[in-house]
Amino acid sequence: MRVDGKHFRSLWWNDVDAVLEIIDQRMLPYQFQIAQVVTLQQFADAISEMKVRGAPLIGATAAYGVARAMADDPSDTNLQHAHQFLEKTRPTAINLRWALDRCRTALSGLHENQRAAAALQLAHEIADEDVQINKRLGEHGLEIIKEIAENKHDGEPVRILTHCNAGWIATVDWGTATSPIYQAHDLGINIHVWVDETRPRNQGALTSWELGKHGVSHTYIVDNAGGHLMQHGMVDLVITGTDRTTRCGDVCNKIGTYLKALAAKDNNVPFYVTLPSPTIDWTIKDGLSEIPIEERRAEEVEQVQGITPTGDLGRLVVTPEGTHGGNPAFDVTPSRLVTGLITERGVCPASEEGLLKLFPEFLEAH
Ligand code: MRU
Repeated sequence: MRVDGKHFRSLWWNDVDAVLEIIDQRMLPYQFQIAQVVTLQQFADAISEMKVRGAPLIGATAAYGVARAMADDPSDTNLQHAHQFLEKTRPTAINLRWALDRCRTALSGLHENQRAAAALQLAHEIADEDVQINKRLGEHGLEIIKEIAENKHDGEPVRILTHCNAGWIATVDWGTATSPIYQAHDLGINIHVWVDETRPRNQGALTSWELGKHGVSHTYIVDNAGGHLMQHGMVDLVITGTDRTTRCGDVCNKIGTYLKALAAKDNNVPFYVTLPSPTIDWTIKDGLSEIPIEERRAEEVEQVQGITPTGDLGRLVVTPEGTHGGNPAFDVTPSRLVTGLITERGVCPASEEGLLKLFPEFLEAH
């Protein structure tokens, strides 16, 4: 991703100071601020306070957190402590546990004096792999967009609705839902993106910021507008990301995704989910009963954050005194509402059979 002419990943390791550098996403889209993450506590805070967010980016950040912990104290006890401490920061995105398990498995087999270097190397690998996975799944999603574009007349845009931010900054680079969009745009395909606002934290503003930086035409819409647009034939397809998808293809994603899938089904609009393989939870089948849904702070609903016309960052209270906000952060879209899953190995039906055809090595995993 380029910001003002310079290429950035969403996180990078600063070798000189031996710290992780991140883009503090709480300040976006108003201010582009880089922050350093040093201690294990700061790693946990960065994830839970959503300085970094988005399932793949949370996973990569946690891997660097383990590297930090191993540099401080490479003992078995500290490896276990770092795993547990970081795992409890956010409960829904499976990439967090995936990255932590991968680190623990790789490091526990090593002698203590090898662990610090190996942990840092592994964190780099996880970050680099994320970039490659997202690029590849974008290539598969691009084929779907191309097919729709071929049936358009007079240069009409392919109109894609997306929810939340499954973009470059939710990952290390490219994004998941945005990867096919960026690749289509770069090929010269005319695209227009309907960006759901995604209350309460308005991650749609992050998506709009990214798309704007990349020159992709887009409109920011309130969360309830999508169904109306679909009824009027103004959406060609929906592409979302996911924070955890079960082995049977139930998709957990940011709250409100389910309603978009229902509206898409009712209006025959294809509903695709971009799914990097680390986001598949092979240990569970039923999304509704088995995926823990994070309940975030009520203030996120009771207040809105924005910038004043004079450029000051501020918060406004929107609820009357005595009214409390409820804040389930994710919902589950049952597989029957999903047209297809776009993975780095290709597109498949949202089913156990479909996923196992692409990932046969997980046949036995339960
Ligand atoms: O709560 P967040 O912002 O960390 O939620 C994650 C998301 O951005 C979305 O749900 C996204 O679609 C999946 S992550 C690529």
